[in-house]
Amino acid sequence: MAGVNVRTRVVLSAVALAVLAVPGAARGQYPAPVLERPLAEAVATDLAEGKRLYNAQCALCHGIDGGGGYGPSLLRPTFARAADDAGLFTLVRTGIPGVMPGFGDANGPRRSWQLAAFVRSMTRAGGAMPPGDAAHGRAVYQARGCANCHVLGGHGRAFGPDLTAIGLQRGPAYLRQAIVEPAARVPDGHVVVTVRAKTGPAIRGVRVSEDAFWVHVRDAGGRLHALRVSELAEFRREAGASLMPAYGALSAADLDDLVAFLSTLRGQR
Ligand code: HEC
Ligand code: HEC
Repeated sequence: MAGVNVRTRVVLSAVALAVLAVPGAARGQYPAPVLERPLAEAVATDLAEGKRLYNAQCALCHGIDGGGGYGPSLLRPTFARAADDAGLFTLVRTGIPGVMPGFGDANGPRRSWQLAAFVRSMTRAGGAMPPGDAAHGRAVYQARGCANCHVLGGHGRAFGPDLTAIGLQRGPAYLRQAIVEPAARVPDGHVVVTVRAKTGPAIRGVRVSEDAFWVHVRDAGGRLHALRVSELAEFRREAGASLMPAYGALSAADLDDLVAFLSTLRGQR
């Protein structure tokens, strides 16, 4: 699913346009709708409408069954980002800036309530933890040298993304694929590039940042290189390439355990 990021951007920019089109919305002049009824009061017709909206707006990232994907599993009794019904109602309207689009303007308060009620109803349907032994998964993580490239709770080397809260950010199926087939999905901000200054050697690494004047690239040894855009002889992006080794040789049990371990990671970012 290399297309996820592209589609994510399409969704996000469509939402950005919608916000710009509504005068005052971007400046927060809207009266915030308040939660008038508990979500548990939703009846079958409310849940049917909520499900329709969910399939259209949320399933892309959270999975058609709510089991997660690019976004986390929603089959949970509690959410880190929404403490209660009111919080969930707000979250589905506002989204999370830069991470998850909000659909409040498109749906309006009534349908946002139906959507939140549907998400709540999925939550009650089952648990979110994948099978596997998380404690053994931690041992696999250490034995396989994941910490050479990932930070967990402040420890490790920050070459790839910080995994401290990865269990809140991604679903189990995505995590599994990220481990055995890393090139299938490269998160935004981790584009692989080859850069070469007119006077220097070629450097292959992950693009950390890029603006009109500078590009910063971290090589596989963890060294950060800063190059002036005006002095570049070569700047090549590799679509779909990953600098993470594929761990396809892990046994099925070790892979289950590793995914279970990563799913438990809910730390502070
Ligand atoms: C572009 C992908 C994307 C779309 C579309 C999307 N989400 Fe999310 N969502 C995410 C990501 C990623 C997170 C994790 C954010 C974080 O905590 O870093 C998230 C988090 C959440 C959470 C909080 C989970 C928790 O434990 O805190 C809820 C609830 C949620 N989304 C519901 C929805 C609903 C309902 C919709 C549809 C209206 C939706 N999302 C659409 C990507 C998406
Ligand atoms: C040589 C460095 C390296 C090693 C070793 C490595 N990774 Fe990665 N990992 C990366 C990079 C770089 C990315 C960013 C995406 C990409 O390039 O594939 C990444 C991405 C990920 C992601 C996806 C994160 C997201 O937000 O989408 C997960 C999960 C992950 N790695 C887990 C692991 C686990 C578990 C191990 C050990 C079995 C491991 N990695 C070993 C470099 C590494």
